[in-house]
Amino acid sequence: MPESTAEIKQRAKQLRQQLQQASYAYYVLDNPIMEDAVYDKLYRELQELENQYPELIAPDSPTQRVGEKPATQFATVKHNIALYSLDNAFDLEEFAQWESKWQRIAPREEFEYVCELKIDGSALALTYENGLLVRGATRGDGVTGEEITQNVKTIRSIPLRLKGENLPPVVEVRGEAFLALDVFERINEERSRSHEAAFANPRNAAAGTLRQLDSRIVAQRRLDFFAYTLQVPDVEDIQVAQTQWESLELLQNMGFKVNPHRTLCRSLDEVKAYYQYWDKQRVDLPYMTDGVVVKLNSVTLQKQLGFTQKSPRWAIALKYPAEEAPTRVESVTVQVGRTGALTPVANLSPVQLAGTTVSRASLHNGDRIAQLDLHIGDTAIVRKAGEIIPEVVRILPELRPDNAQPFRMPTHCPECGQPTVKPASEAVARCINASCPAILRGSLVHWGSRDALDINGLGEKLVQQMVDRQFVQSVADLYDLTIDKLSALERFGRKSAHNLLQELEKSKTKPWARVLYGLGIRHVGSVNAQLLTEKFPDVEQLSAASPAQIEAVYGIGAEIADSVAQWFQVPANQTLIQRLKAAGLQFSAAPSSPQSAAEKPAQTFAGKTFVLTGTLPTLTRNDAKSLIENAGGKVTSSVSSKTDYLVVGEDAGSKLKKAQDLGIAQLGEAQLLALLEQ
Ligand code: IVH
Repeated sequence: MPESTAEIKQRAKQLRQQLQQASYAYYVLDNPIMEDAVYDKLYRELQELENQYPELIAPDSPTQRVGEKPATQFATVKHNIALYSLDNAFDLEEFAQWESKWQRIAPREEFEYVCELKIDGSALALTYENGLLVRGATRGDGVTGEEITQNVKTIRSIPLRLKGENLPPVVEVRGEAFLALDVFERINEERSRSHEAAFANPRNAAAGTLRQLDSRIVAQRRLDFFAYTLQVPDVEDIQVAQTQWESLELLQNMGFKVNPHRTLCRSLDEVKAYYQYWDKQRVDLPYMTDGVVVKLNSVTLQKQLGFTQKSPRWAIALKYPAEEAPTRVESVTVQVGRTGALTPVANLSPVQLAGTTVSRASLHNGDRIAQLDLHIGDTAIVRKAGEIIPEVVRILPELRPDNAQPFRMPTHCPECGQPTVKPASEAVARCINASCPAILRGSLVHWGSRDALDINGLGEKLVQQMVDRQFVQSVADLYDLTIDKLSALERFGRKSAHNLLQELEKSKTKPWARVLYGLGIRHVGSVNAQLLTEKFPDVEQLSAASPAQIEAVYGIGAEIADSVAQWFQVPANQTLIQRLKAAGLQFSAAPSSPQSAAEKPAQTFAGKTFVLTGTLPTLTRNDAKSLIENAGGKVTSSVSSKTDYLVVGEDAGSKLKKAQDLGIAQLGEAQLLALLEQ
């Protein structure tokens, strides 16, 4: 422990710097340089110093990112420089019209556009004084917004202090706060568990989160941020950048995350290529984009063109086809899933959405239907976003036919007719009849799913037939199937029967973690199954564990622990395990398998960063990821100069092109496995 005041001060400063560097590497560069445990240790040391000597707390200390007790309301602020919005072009023709329009005002033979992705989030205005973040505000009406500095500080990819020297005294940065799609889905799952209405899309979720009065909640939500505009107000003579491209580079040097998928274009054809390329590739991005933003690169030209009332003449948003559209709700079907949960699904008049025809959309649960006040025959706004299934966002009551009847959730299971149960604390009604055919079907499909036992061919249609004909009454019955029995099924020849039996045979070699996941215990996803099997290397140990012992596993919470312990208490589940064991499924970690924690394989890939793209011939994405991670490697989601290898499968996307551009080594599955063998 340092002693003198000067030493203590020095130590606090050093800790701040080390933590700041580690957090920048992690959140902005996606390239960690510090072990989590080391980070935590240094963080705690700094926290203790600050507790003891509150005068040491610096505004850019990483401890300032955790949020504060709730505010009663936000103050409004007037923006130093107004936040304009963008005009939209809905296709390339409208884009061409925009081009001729600005050309009439400032004709040019040669010019450059910067094309950026339009991130679907919420705009933020950040003010830095002498390098320090002093204010964060929402866009509001463009002239005044709300001051949300505390919330902004919780966003790890926003620097609390700018990097670099000779910074202008005041720097204004604009960019988009957004939620990655996986974070968005997690938030909605949590909300549905706690009875709150789901956010309709990541943009609403980001905007709603930014305006949370309790910044401690904001800190948990994991917002992210891409910077796209750099402005220096008040000092007329300082020109920071001559071009938008340079601005983006400056922002990056100042420590911001800037979207890597930007490009310079010199013609309409080049813009077209970028726009079309990203229309295909954007489904692979971990966040949502609804178009591209095209900006004239030259700041001189920007100044010459200026602004209209609402938007710059030198930039335009070139949007992708609508992902929301109105259509009629013809009827509602209630589906029963493998957990017995009743999910209402709207049957719609077919409508074109983001390039596909949509005729069904999720209504989530009864609470959501009540909230929407849905009537059969209503006109609903349906939304499809990335890989998220289409859903009903809202309905238009003004278009409701006179005699329309409200839809009510059934009180009995539509599959087996037994009464359903809905605990007051949950939004979801469930069928709790253990022999409900719908639950059985769901369990079988889950058992065969990719991250579980990965049984090719065990799809919904086949499962439906097997259950209808009572060939199987439990997952264990799958292993009693014979060629003769299977070939009696409709459109199922001996060859398919043989293939399925082979697939079932193969499933017996799948590791204990996948078996546990396949059992479909509530709240046990594939990650939790992995955590549990590392601590409980066989089923007997897990089955005998108390909720407290299960909860002691790092990463496992009380709800999961209770659910697991309860599941093993059920005699029918014990019988199921015995039968599956007798059939040859793995219920313990094989000491020789690479998954086993006891025998860690050599750290062949230590320090190497991998990116996966496309579909590999035999490995699932998660398999490949764990193989790489077990060998000490790291798997990240996007290609950068830090990437060592791109693992390429079929239908590889934009990542392949990027890797080729950057000259990054590529591996096929066979090469990856060969390297691992070495
Ligand atoms: S530039 C004057 N660039 O789109 C410049 N905006 O529809 C105005 N947005 O309010 C903004 N990604 O919230 C710009 N790369 C990007 C963007 C972007 C998303 C948002 C921004 C803006 C809205 C306009």
